[in-house]
Amino acid sequence: MFIINDDTKVFAIQTQNTSYIFGVDNLGLLRHLYWGAKVSKVDDFECEELNEVSTNDPVNEITAEEYPVYGGLLYKQHCLKVKFANGDKGLFYKYNGYTIEGNKLTVHLVDIYHEIGIDLVYVNFAEYDLVERYAVVKNNSDKEVSLEQFQSAQLHVLKTGLIFSNVHGYWGAEQNRFEQPVSYGKILIECRRGISTHNHNPHFILHDKATEDYGDVYFGALKLSGNFRGIVEQTAYGETLIQMGLNSHDFEAVIMPNCEMVSPGIICGYTKNGFSTMSHNLHRYAREQLMNPAPKMVLYNSWEATEFKVTCEHQIDLAKKAADLGAELFVLDDGWFGERDSINNGLGDWYVNETKFPDGLHPLIKAVKDNGMEFGIWLEPEMVNPLSNLYKEHPEWIYHFKDVVSDTSRGQYVLNITLKEVQDYIIGVFEDLLSKNDIAYIKWDANRPISQSSNDKQVWHNHVLALYDIVSHIKKKFPHVIFEACASGGGRIDFGALTYFDDFWTSDNTDAFDRLIIQEGYSFIYPIKAMRAWVTDCPNFLSQRTIPLKFRFHSAMMGTLGIGSNILELSGEEVIIYKEMIAQYKQIRHIVQDGDFYRLSPITENRYYAYQYVLGEESLLFVFLPQSYLGHTGARIQLKGLCQDKVYCLDTGIEKSGEYLMHEGIKIRLTGDYASEIIKLMEKHD
Ligand code: DGJ
Repeated sequence: MFIINDDTKVFAIQTQNTSYIFGVDNLGLLRHLYWGAKVSKVDDFECEELNEVSTNDPVNEITAEEYPVYGGLLYKQHCLKVKFANGDKGLFYKYNGYTIEGNKLTVHLVDIYHEIGIDLVYVNFAEYDLVERYAVVKNNSDKEVSLEQFQSAQLHVLKTGLIFSNVHGYWGAEQNRFEQPVSYGKILIECRRGISTHNHNPHFILHDKATEDYGDVYFGALKLSGNFRGIVEQTAYGETLIQMGLNSHDFEAVIMPNCEMVSPGIICGYTKNGFSTMSHNLHRYAREQLMNPAPKMVLYNSWEATEFKVTCEHQIDLAKKAADLGAELFVLDDGWFGERDSINNGLGDWYVNETKFPDGLHPLIKAVKDNGMEFGIWLEPEMVNPLSNLYKEHPEWIYHFKDVVSDTSRGQYVLNITLKEVQDYIIGVFEDLLSKNDIAYIKWDANRPISQSSNDKQVWHNHVLALYDIVSHIKKKFPHVIFEACASGGGRIDFGALTYFDDFWTSDNTDAFDRLIIQEGYSFIYPIKAMRAWVTDCPNFLSQRTIPLKFRFHSAMMGTLGIGSNILELSGEEVIIYKEMIAQYKQIRHIVQDGDFYRLSPITENRYYAYQYVLGEESLLFVFLPQSYLGHTGARIQLKGLCQDKVYCLDTGIEKSGEYLMHEGIKIRLTGDYASEIIKLMEKHD
């Protein structure tokens, strides 16, 4: 709901439990007023007149503007910087009314000197306590204008001394959550690689000493899979501001006459109830607004078992075994196409390799389908190896400068998918593949960043838009096909990707212990239902660690289960465990994939790691003890999200009230290293 006072020009976006309020002040500036717990008497808010503090602190500097623009006496971090055809820079906007369509409020601003409009859009997702913001710059003139800076939004927290949180990491070590105090000066997180990043993630969390259950948390996640930038600044004027949007590094976007440019959306929220509520709101939004509601299939993927050494016969053997174990989807990974036998060749030549698959993909797909599974396949469509027919025919299709040799990385170049002919080529590859073969799942990989990006500074962003367009185009024609976003593991995890893709490959690191850390970091913002997790062989190829099979399964069952091991080498005893665990996952997956997720004992604070899922009357407790310790007597784990006065039956045979389970808790004693347990709870009916 929106409450708008046309006299005072105060706008309130009312969600179930929060209010976001701004107004137009005496200078026509759009000024932030409030973001926090719900306030119903919106008329109490007004834009009091601001006067400069001194000639060195002019009004623009001290005003908490919703969308500060470069121009005049404004020196602080701005959201938008426009350059005009005659070289002039700077905007001076004034308020020009608003429109409402359904849950979307658009506030119109116009520049007083140029024919430029700025629309600030606020989409109210009231049921999730979330508001999506984005900006639209409209060039209403007959000349080109260019943007040198373009942010989706500026957000304000009218407090200082907050704590900022994001993730850091690299390949195989994504999603390491960190916190840092916000003080004077700026904190910057960004991606300059064009193809997302494993290093930071396009979201922010700002909190006031919050815990999982209590405390003020302000957060936002950007819908962008490329060069983003996020800035957090505690200003001298008693507030903390956040900006997120396109990275201005090597950026300039031209808007042609009578055209417009839309920023990526940022989905933001506030809660006074700590990180769990933040995660629940974002997860629910993602599941219900962005994702396909169908349950996620248990998949088998051959990559760790075979790498590039794929053959039709061997894949059929794997498929039969995978089906016997209970897999529902068989994914043929890298190595099936062109002359691909290592990272150095084949990318771009998306024809079936005749030596490996003499009769094409059909015999394998038939075997997969005959065994009751769906078939999926790996492609890396944005890339090309120099050793490929595609590169020989079209060397000009890669990103390049005029007189510089482009760098290869992982033996490959990045295709300039902003070119229409490259888009047509990729779409053609998919149309051919998907119309001739019964394919239900695409794993879309991207294993290197962009370099030598051409002389057009817009390509960094246009690459991402082209990616989204290509995937939407293919999905429109083949709506049943599910797309997994992978970029050397978890390099493409963001809400931009989740708007077009259905699954994330969380990390190439499949070590079950490391995964607990990665998965916990991931879970703060992103939905469990998109978190692919595989059970793989030991010693793990990356960590060289050997972990019992039950722990490996339990770790992977925390997300959408996959199997990535060499299943043809399993012992009889292992086969029994695989079958039991996969069958168990199918029984509980609705709770894992669609339930509310609780981090009961975060990794950094405890020896026991405990997580809980709650869906209606059912709940699951996952407990892990990676390492036993001296004097260990077990742990008491207090559950969350249950009904106080209901009685729950645990599959351990115990019956307890919700009140008891949430206050006294469950006493757990696991023994040995890498011990783990899943306990299911069900509300009791008389
Ligand atoms: C990187 C992915 O993350 C892996 O799962 C696998 O698909 C390889 N690429 C294949 O080259």
